[in-house]
Amino acid sequence: MASPDFSRRADEPEWMDVRQWPRADFAAILNDLEQANLLTFAAHPTLDFLARLTRGWPPGAELRVADLGYGRGDMLRRIHRWAVSRGLRPRLTGVDLNPHCRALAGELTPPGLAIDWHQGDLFDWAPAEPPHAIVSALFAHHLPAADVQRLLTWQEATASHGWFVNDLHRHWLAWRGFRALAWAMRWHPCVRHDGALSVRRAFVHDDWRAMLAEAGLAADIRWHPLFRLCVGRIK
Ligand SMILES: C[S@@+](CC[C@H](N)C(=O)[O-])C[C@H]1O[C@@H](n2cnc3c(N)ncnc32)[C@H](O)[C@@H]1O
Repeated sequence: MASPDFSRRADEPEWMDVRQWPRADFAAILNDLEQANLLTFAAHPTLDFLARLTRGWPPGAELRVADLGYGRGDMLRRIHRWAVSRGLRPRLTGVDLNPHCRALAGELTPPGLAIDWHQGDLFDWAPAEPPHAIVSALFAHHLPAADVQRLLTWQEATASHGWFVNDLHRHWLAWRGFRALAWAMRWHPCVRHDGALSVRRAFVHDDWRAMLAEAGLAADIRWHPLFRLCVGRIK
C-alpha cells in the first residue's frame, strides 16, 4: 500500500472513539495498546519530565498529577511507583471520557494505590486543588485542532507547576513501523486500525510551534524514541 499524505493531520475518527465496544474487546484493545507502549518505551519521556519538575523537592512532599485520557491507567500506576521510590507522596487523578476505562483502571489498581479515576470530558473537569502537573499520553491527537489549542491554554491555567503532552510524531516511518509491529504481534483489529491512524492524526514540530505561538506559550518540543513528539513546560 502506498504511503498516505503526511503533510497534514488526518481527520478520520479513530474506531476507539466512535464505535461501541463490548467490555471484553475494549479490555483487549487497551491491553494491546499497553504492549505497544512498553515496546516503544512510551512512559520514559513523561517520567523524565516529572523528574525535572520535582528536582530538589524535599522527601515527603506531596505530588499532585492529573493524567488526561488515562485508558486503563498504566501510566498513573507507574507514576505512583516512581513517586514513592523517590520519597514523594503521590496524589493522582485520571480523567477519561470512556466508562470502560474507569472500570478497567479500577480493577487493575491494587488497593494500596489510591488513585482517583474520574470519568468525564477533560474540559468539564474542575479539580478541587490544582494539580502540580498535568500529563497525557496518546491523547492530544484524539482531539480536533481547535481543542488541542484549547488544551494548551487550559493546562497552562490549571496546572500549578507544569504540563506535559506525550504524543506521536506524524512520520511515514512511524506509520510503516507500527503497521508491521501490529501485524507481527496480532493485535486487535481496532489497535491495528487506530494505531496507524493515530500516527496520521498526530503532529510535527511546526504544528506545535504554531499552536504554542497562537496560545502565547513558550514550551519545550522534544522528540523521543520511538517516534514520540512531546511538548512540555515547567513554569
Ligand atoms: C489512545 S487512548 C490513550 C490511553 C493511554 N493514555 C495510553 O497512553 O495508552 C486515548 C484515551 O483518551 C480518552 N479521551 C478521548 N477524548 C477525551 C476527552 N475529551 N476527555 C477525556 N478523555 C478522552 C479515550 O477515552 C481514551 O481512553
